[in-house]
Amino acid sequence: MTDLHTFIREMPKAELHLHIEGTLEPELMLELARRNDVQLPYETLDDIRAAYDFNCLEDFLQVYYLGMSVLITERDFFDLTWAYLEKVKGQNVTHIEIFFDPQGHTERGIGFDTVLGGITRALEQGNKELAITSRLIMCFLRHLPEEAAFDTLDHACRCRDYIFGVGLDSSELGYPPENFTRVFAAARENGFTPVAHAGEEGPPGYVSQALDVLKIERIDHGNRALEDPALVHRIAASGMAMTVCPLSNLRLKVVDDLTRHPLRQMLDAGLCATVNSDDPSYFGGYITENFLAVQTALSLDLAEIVQLGRNAITGSFMSQAEKSISLDRFDAFCQGFPNN
Ligand code: ADE
Ligand code: ZN
Repeated sequence: MTDLHTFIREMPKAELHLHIEGTLEPELMLELARRNDVQLPYETLDDIRAAYDFNCLEDFLQVYYLGMSVLITERDFFDLTWAYLEKVKGQNVTHIEIFFDPQGHTERGIGFDTVLGGITRALEQGNKELAITSRLIMCFLRHLPEEAAFDTLDHACRCRDYIFGVGLDSSELGYPPENFTRVFAAARENGFTPVAHAGEEGPPGYVSQALDVLKIERIDHGNRALEDPALVHRIAASGMAMTVCPLSNLRLKVVDDLTRHPLRQMLDAGLCATVNSDDPSYFGGYITENFLAVQTALSLDLAEIVQLGRNAITGSFMSQAEKSISLDRFDAFCQGFPNN
């Protein structure tokens, strides 16, 4: 057990589901509020932590969008992203595919280029100084109209070199993927790789729609797909990865207890499930804590942890050459453990 936890801590990891705005730690939130003279309804770190008591996704999103209000300048977005990179470097993360929510900022009058500039500057520095490779995925907020998503896509097309993919996030129930059919088609035509949050709170039909209509190449969450055996079979047969977020699922009450988390069921069904942190500052853990918590709750064994670690590499958007280098490094780590 202790050895398995050491293995988890030390293994090279890829993270595929991470909202950069969800890494805003309470300390940095207060610092940026002071720096930018932004009024928050919190005065102390304890006030902030007390607000992180969610009953569902919608509860969380209100607190998440409020937290974002302290992010104003390019430097703020750099500091936010750099703090995440330094944190996960300490967790042996070597590759990240991260989301950002430009509409959460442009709606408040912050320039798209300010947001993207700060994030990409940190990612480039992370590549050079920390040897962490990355892909950036721009999410459309599904509670906003399609027209607003098109405006956001126009910005992304100007900055094509910095943005790898497009995603869909925010409130799920009542906002089916098909609302974004046209904007996803336009994004694909412009070379962006499509992904979407689906089946976190929404029904399995939203997962099928995201596959059929948005033509996504990876499913973010996907928990409720398990309610439809034919859909599970389809996803497993396609080999498509699912980015599963155990502590997020617990804190947003997608599962009532981590011992009943469906991660093992997913692996047993042949799904390419991966472990991720979603919004680590809000949900009580980065990728390592997610692995440790779900290993403990489900008594996952070494083979299952190895499978999850390899799935993150094969399910990533790295090139084939990058994947094979990463898999070799991962396998060498496994063979050398505990002596490496
Ligand atoms: N935005 C940030 N985290 C999210 C989540 N877990 N689901 C949907 N939208 C989000
Ligand atoms: Zn998410």
